[in-house]
Amino acid sequence: MSKGLEDVVASTSAITFIDGVRGRLVYCGYDIADLSEHSNYEEVTYLLWHNRLPQRDELAAFTLELGARRRLPNGVMSSIDSLSLDCDTMDALEMAIASLGIYDEKELSRMETAQSIASKIGTIVAYIHRHKSGLHQLEAKEGTSFASDLLYLLTGKEPDAFSEKLMNVLLVLHADHELNASTFTARVVASTLSDMYSSVTAAVAALKGPLHGGANERVVEMVQQVGSPENVPEFLQKKLASKEKIMGFGHRVYKTLDPRAKILRSYAGRVASTSKEKNDLAILDALADEMIRQKGIYPNVDFYSGFVLQHLQVPTYLFTPLFAVGRTPGWLAHIMEQYSNNRIMRPIAEYTGSRDERYVPIELRGKINA
Ligand SMILES: CC(C)(COP(=O)(O)OP(=O)(O)OC[C@H]1O[C@@H](n2cnc3c(N)ncnc32)[C@H](O)[C@@H]1OP(=O)(O)O)[C@@H](O)C(=O)NCCC(=O)NCCS
Repeated sequence: MSKGLEDVVASTSAITFIDGVRGRLVYCGYDIADLSEHSNYEEVTYLLWHNRLPQRDELAAFTLELGARRRLPNGVMSSIDSLSLDCDTMDALEMAIASLGIYDEKELSRMETAQSIASKIGTIVAYIHRHKSGLHQLEAKEGTSFASDLLYLLTGKEPDAFSEKLMNVLLVLHADHELNASTFTARVVASTLSDMYSSVTAAVAALKGPLHGGANERVVEMVQQVGSPENVPEFLQKKLASKEKIMGFGHRVYKTLDPRAKILRSYAGRVASTSKEKNDLAILDALADEMIRQKGIYPNVDFYSGFVLQHLQVPTYLFTPLFAVGRTPGWLAHIMEQYSNNRIMRPIAEYTGSRDERYVPIELRGKINA
């Protein structure tokens, strides 16, 4: 028995390779350092779904196909319109993906369904945000990149080239991560031959938890609590003494710095310009140094992602939904890989309960000695 399935090989996969000792992350053979620098959301999505980089004409056609699928069916929009303004954004996202399964075009192929979900999930997150904030809804554009349209739908402004690049970096870095909890969940649901919408809905539910995708919001809260870099040692000492987990640190697979955190730290350094940003980044760096020094535990992807999202004017409650948007191409790649070589996932439990209880009628329970 391996608690938390640590080190259990539950599937073969040709999508993502992680070297947790050297801190390397590779999608279909390509290092994420190269992909985040030179590639973008559309190209990495193509890579994950086809296991190779596209030719120029293939990428152009794929980008157009994705763009043409961004608009939401009326049923999905009215499902979101009916939600209370204070609803949890991840709950709303789960509901909206499930409702996309009801209202999406019928008779799409698997690849077309994947395109539809991946394209629409960005529009859905922006639609939920605008609904919750009482902002008028905007129509998704077709001819722009996914990252650009996502920022436009969220902020109502056309992004500049650097903001679009930053969003692409975030999306590329989150695109896949082998058998993490949400991807494993997606594969388990797909292994029953349930549909792709249901598998992604389940993955969103798994991502919601603070041990998985919910950590970046809490990192930002922690930075506000700390207030200043000088307060870091005392803050950490208290938390660690009470055995609290420090959000944005630690990883099941990485035994060193998460390579995604390394890349995000370099972008954080480039964008930090206001005094608040400089102070926040100094707190993050002090937390990282102190945690490595005291516990030998390194930052993970959630540690700097909130900082970069804040720079893009994204409100905290959208951090985890945007993680879901970024991870969707990976979930879909794994769902399709699962379908292509399927066997239902059905592990066994080591039973620790009793085996030979005598059934006592309810009126006698507590009266006689069972
Ligand atoms: C990511 C995470 C869930 C991995 O969990 P895991 O592989 O089951 O590791 P464990 O929780 O068993 O931790 C192993 C040891 O490291 C310590 N540890 C791990 N992450 C820690 C953290 N963030 N803060 C403090 N201690 C931590 C544990 O207390 C444990 O110490 P112990 O052996 O003395 O009891 C865990 O590191 C965590 O909860 N991190 C905070 C949440 C987070 O940032 N999630 C985003 C992940 S990308």
